[in-house]
Amino acid sequence: MNIAWGCDHSGYEGPPPIYKTELVRYIEELGHTVVDCGTFGPESVDYPDYANAVCAAILSGKADEGILMCGTGLGVAMAANRHKGVRAAVCTNAEMVKMAREHNNANVLCLGRRILTLDECERLIDTWFEARFQGGERHLRRIAKMG
Ligand code: RB5
Repeated sequence: MNIAWGCDHSGYEGPPPIYKTELVRYIEELGHTVVDCGTFGPESVDYPDYANAVCAAILSGKADEGILMCGTGLGVAMAANRHKGVRAAVCTNAEMVKMAREHNNANVLCLGRRILTLDECERLIDTWFEARFQGGERHLRRIAKMG
């Protein structure tokens, strides 16, 4: 799949390993093509710009789904969820990822650099790619009500 990646400067924070570069590489190692929407360095930037870029990639068909990162995951999720057709989920554990996929049919995973270890991010990404929307009338009905 084509996966749009976006993060603010938090993706470059802290001592190496740098989460952004490690996670982009990890997603590629899983066999996906990354559409890298930035950011590309540690300079302070505004997270909505990167959330908007990832959503634009998805909504234009350039990417199938997206992964976003900011300090907490919250800001990028708030920005992404303003786009009709995007269902972005902040997840801090595997059960949240599973439910976001199976029930909410989430198409964007939002991760917090300051909340999760790099290994935790990788495990959540594993679950993200394993889990699938369950489908079914009740889930489709509820999702439709979100517009
Ligand atoms: C940036 O310092 C920080 O506010 C941002 O990454 C994010 O956590 C916002 O939700």
